[in-house]
Amino acid sequence: MQLTANIQSYNFDHVLLNAAGVMCQTTAEIDTVLASKHTGSVVTKSATLANRKGNPSPRYYELKNGLGTINSMGLPNEGFDYYMNYVATKATEKPIFFSIGGLSKSENINMLHQLQDSDFAGLIELNLSCPNVPGKPQTAYDFETTEEILTDVFSFFKKPLGVKLPPYFDIVHFDMIASILNKFPLAFVNTINSIGNGLVIDEATDTVVIKPKDGFGGIGGTLVKATALANVRALRQRLNEDIKIIGTGGVTTGRDVYEHILCGADLVEVGSQLAIEGIEVFERLENELREILTEKGYHSLAEVRGQLKVIS
Ligand code: SIN
Repeated sequence: MQLTANIQSYNFDHVLLNAAGVMCQTTAEIDTVLASKHTGSVVTKSATLANRKGNPSPRYYELKNGLGTINSMGLPNEGFDYYMNYVATKATEKPIFFSIGGLSKSENINMLHQLQDSDFAGLIELNLSCPNVPGKPQTAYDFETTEEILTDVFSFFKKPLGVKLPPYFDIVHFDMIASILNKFPLAFVNTINSIGNGLVIDEATDTVVIKPKDGFGGIGGTLVKATALANVRALRQRLNEDIKIIGTGGVTTGRDVYEHILCGADLVEVGSQLAIEGIEVFERLENELREILTEKGYHSLAEVRGQLKVIS
């Protein structure tokens, strides 16, 4: 059974990855994801130029009944140089995704110049969608600014680069973001980041469950699956064929992975469920995916990718 994918010249022997933010802040965590026999590779925590502690705790909470999670981590990370040192010294066959999430355009441009001038030979994810840094908007909801940033980036950046997007909810917005992204030689888009600024309340105390932003935080897990699938599908229908799609959001079972691929995802990332279940989640999801494909008589993911049926 072929569970492979590719982005440009990069080949992945497995379709599952971590979502940036989960199990990818320290070298030990990144090593753990890379070492799994059931991951295509790893995405590093979105880096800022300087290291950050992130938002005050509690900043992560698991909802009851497996509904998902709320987080407002605020981009805690070890700083750009830490991840640069990691990729400079790590020997691996898997193509690493180096994620950056600068706090300003100039910070992102600075990090991209350094990546451009380095020997890093993996892929770069530009995170334009973190909802959790107080006072900072989710850039990719501002279409004009997104186009300006990508214009500046691609004036000098020649390595394979993708963007991490927030969820969109309006057909007009799918059209607008796709028409901007199609102007650039993007290697991939990653859709979706968490649904920003949800609110969860503790029943016993009538109190919000996380501290930052008076309880507002990004929602992930089961609750976001339908939105994630819609974004994967809508973007696959609108983006140039050579822009590959990483589907992220609401993956708790092999069936969820299968549905992301049906909608057009090339690779699939796991965030909340990785945080809940740990590294073993990848083996379980891959086994469940294999069972579904076998039952349906498929021999490879290529037969399934983008083949969602509609009612005529
Ligand atoms: C965070 O660090 O707040 C989560 C990462 C993200 O939403 O991009």
